[in-house]
Parts: sequence; structure tokens; C-alpha cells
Amino acid sequence: PKTFYFSRHGESEFNVLGRIGGDADLSPRGRMYAAALARHFNEAEVHDLHIWTSEKRRTKQTVAGINATSEAIPALNELDAGVCEGYSYEEMQDKFPQEFAWRDQDKLRYRYPWGESYVDIMHRIRPVLLELEREDNLLVVSHQAVLRCLLGYFMNKKPDELPYMNVPLHTIIKLTTSGYKTHMEVIKLNI
Ligand code: G3H
Repeated sequence: PKTFYFSRHGESEFNVLGRIGGDADLSPRGRMYAAALARHFNEAEVHDLHIWTSEKRRTKQTVAGINATSEAIPALNELDAGVCEGYSYEEMQDKFPQEFAWRDQDKLRYRYPWGESYVDIMHRIRPVLLELEREDNLLVVSHQAVLRCLLGYFMNKKPDELPYMNVPLHTIIKLTTSGYKTHMEVIKLNI
């Protein structure tokens, strides 16, 4: 069996403001999660633990205290919201009502102008999934939309379910895989 750990970055300053995209720093609560995550992994002494993050500040800051080597992977960056980067959902609805309605009708395939769709994410993480097959004791710290696609792959979700999967903040999802069988454990850290 192989073991993979997945987590979203800790709460960011943009999460606090309800804004999407961007490259914000962790909020004070997010920094508390980073500290709790470091305590968790440093105490667990996972053999040969290594880490993949996205290129964003919030994922790198989330793993900064963990005693393990980490690598930043562009394919783990959050869904690119194109012209809507930095907006809140209310502002989006106000400034781009047609786009907002289209996304609501087909969240899986909807592509933000100059940005990406969930289907685009599924394509861009394919090499990551192939690489994952050769890994063990790996912690992946990424973002909500990307983790929905990664976890959906392991949990055999239908593509249309992916954009609505619940992947909460400040939670480690531990997957133990053996062949086609995947066992999932949800570890909520108290912060
Ligand atoms: O764009 C970033 C969000 O994490 C994805 O959330 O696809 O539910 O809007 P959403």
C-alpha cells in the first residue's frame, strides 16, 4: 500500500475577503494551520516524507515548518479565473452576469475568459497523476479546485460531481491506496 496526504493551503487573506485567485499570503488563522500541520507531520515522523506544493505563496507558506523537502509544481496551481481573478462571487455576478449564469449552468466545462475550466484542470493534472503512481509518503498541498480533481480521481467520482466536492480548509485527507482500492481518512486539525 502507498500513502498520500492532501491538504488545501491554510486560510489566505483572499479567503477572508471572499476573493478568488491571486497570490495572497496566509491569514493569521492560516498561519495557525501551517503551525499545526508542521507539528502533526514532524511528530508523526513519516518515513521519507516529501512535499509537493503549487507555486503560490499560500501553499509554500503552509508547508514551511515541516521537516521535509518540498517541490513547487505549476500544474498544482489553482484554477485560473482569467478576467475574474481577484473578484468576489458577488462582484462577479455584478460585473459579469452572463458569465456567472453560464458557469452556474455547466460548472464542469465553463471556462473563465482568459482562464480555465475544471476540464482544463483535469487535463493539466494528468502528468501529476502519472507521477503520483510512482510516489509514496507524499504530501500534496494545493487548492480547492485542483484537489477536487485529484481526490475525485482516487475516489472514482463522476466528472460532473467534481466541481461540487467538499474539500474543507484546515483538514488533511490521508489516502492509502492498494491497487484499485483507496481508503480515505479525514484528519481535522484543531487550531
Ligand atoms: O477558483 C477557486 C476556487 O477555489 C474554486 O471554487 O470552483 O467552487 O468557484 P469554485
